[in-house]
Amino acid sequence: MATGNSRTDGGDYRLPHGGTLTPTNKQAAGASRRHSGVEEDAQTGVDHQGLVRGHQRSLDNGCRRRPPSIPYQEKARAPGQTDAQPAMKEDKMKKPDPEFAALQFTEKNPDEMIALSESFYRNVQRRRSVRDFSDRPVPEEVIKNALLAAGTAPSRANMQPWHFVVVGNPDTKRAIREAAEEEERAFYQGGAPEEWLNAVQPLGTDANKPFLETAPSLIVVFLKKVTLDKGGKGHKNYYTTESVGIAVGILITALHLSGLATLTHTPSPMRFLNRILGRPDSERPFLILVTGYPGTNATVPAISRYELDQIASFF
Ligand SMILES: Cc1cc2nc3c(=O)[nH]c(=O)nc-3n(C[C@H](O)[C@H](O)[C@H](O)COP(=O)(O)O)c2cc1C
Repeated sequence: MATGNSRTDGGDYRLPHGGTLTPTNKQAAGASRRHSGVEEDAQTGVDHQGLVRGHQRSLDNGCRRRPPSIPYQEKARAPGQTDAQPAMKEDKMKKPDPEFAALQFTEKNPDEMIALSESFYRNVQRRRSVRDFSDRPVPEEVIKNALLAAGTAPSRANMQPWHFVVVGNPDTKRAIREAAEEEERAFYQGGAPEEWLNAVQPLGTDANKPFLETAPSLIVVFLKKVTLDKGGKGHKNYYTTESVGIAVGILITALHLSGLATLTHTPSPMRFLNRILGRPDSERPFLILVTGYPGTNATVPAISRYELDQIASFF
């Protein structure tokens, strides 16, 4: 007897306890890019978030965010359950049955896999944290696609405990720079432990953060400790740091592979970001991802990476 959901030849899905569900709508409907409206200069095509608009190629032709909806044909039954013999407690029966859809997976041959993994490594190896940015605007679609990519990250129970605020408005960037530099000055001049100062010494960083104003986009990442339901009731999220960390990793990689430079910036403390950006207390500022093109002749600290045998063990 099958213990998991098995797929029949007809494309239906057989539940372990006898019910069947059928995908009736393989085309996802109503794809929405859910892009927030920002003001745009009609003449330049540059909006007030420092982003270039205009690429009409869109994601609207297919929904990348939601799997097809698969309604059940009949109610699932517990093993051995008959119509006359309810097997589940009433409160459990109130919970909706989980839905399943076919996994989109294309197997590759080993040579192709190795070539792809080498190519990916070669590409991400060139990513560096940049602290000298050009003020040239960046294509808005690139930022939005990178955010959509970040939103595909795995998260505990699919809680998706992240919120991204894209800041391009010069006044808002200035306010963030001023508040960040104030925190940084206090940190460098008084609070920073000697060990920390030694660790950042090779990077040549100090309390001045001009890139917070120069770079066209600051992507401020918030970690949602709770998610509000439609009735406004808060539900606690779990493994939020792990989940948001993974999402930011995808975001950085997506921006890099799309041709933009980033800097992960973590002024400490960061609560001023809630005030400036109007985010609720239930969201914790996670980091600022400074995003744009590198300045002409930008330099980066000459650092090295550990070898594979220093970062991995194989048993
Ligand atoms: C969680 C985190 C916080 C960071 N915070 C800062 C920061 O506040 N300021 C800064 O200049 N760099 C910051 N960085 C960038 C690191 O210094 C940088 O990633 C590291 O030196 C390795 O260099 P690379 O990114 O060029 O490979 C941060 C990186 C991470 C992952």
